[in-house]
Amino acid sequence: MLKALVIYHTKTGHTLQAAEDIARGLSESGIECTIKAASSLTESGKSDLDEFDIVIFGTPTYGNRLYRLPARPVEKFLDSLSPRGLEGKTCGAFAVNARMGGSKLVKNIEKRLLRLGGKVVTGGPVIIAGVPLSLWKGRGASPKDVNKCEEYGRRVASEATK
Ligand SMILES: Cc1cc2nc3c(=O)[nH]c(=O)nc-3n(C[C@H](O)[C@H](O)[C@H](O)COP(=O)(O)O)c2cc1C
Repeated sequence: MLKALVIYHTKTGHTLQAAEDIARGLSESGIECTIKAASSLTESGKSDLDEFDIVIFGTPTYGNRLYRLPARPVEKFLDSLSPRGLEGKTCGAFAVNARMGGSKLVKNIEKRLLRLGGKVVTGGPVIIAGVPLSLWKGRGASPKDVNKCEEYGRRVASEATK
């Protein structure tokens, strides 16, 4: 059975929600799924991805360097990897934004995953949730966006099993 790790950062919960939605799509396709906060991985020094065939990165959109960088804990995790640390793994990215920037961010993370040697399943989901520039939780993802995440999980699973 293939194994997937979904790495995320969240402050108000929306990115974790999206991670769970993607994980559901993966699990439905027979992938064994683990969801971990990026900060928990770097703090424990467990940046080790050996056991995983699939690695997916999710982040809120904070406008860091204008949509080039994910939230700091995710960035820190990516920094901790060796130059070809994603070689042989199927990878992907997703982002949550309140209004804008998420798609640019996802494209930039996907480029980074490619440079790290990953087989990238591009077009990762961009979810609308939350409030711009605010730590108020705001609205949650629409059923359409939940669906988009599940669909992406299934697409990654099918790419990984090819
Ligand atoms: C400091 C900060 C900067 C943000 N910048 C943007 C932004 O540039 N564009 C946008 O659409 N949303 C922006 N947001 C909103 C978050 O991306 C949104 O609320 C997201 O749902 C938060 O995810 P989380 O619930 O996983 O923490 C920002 C939020 C904060 C706190």
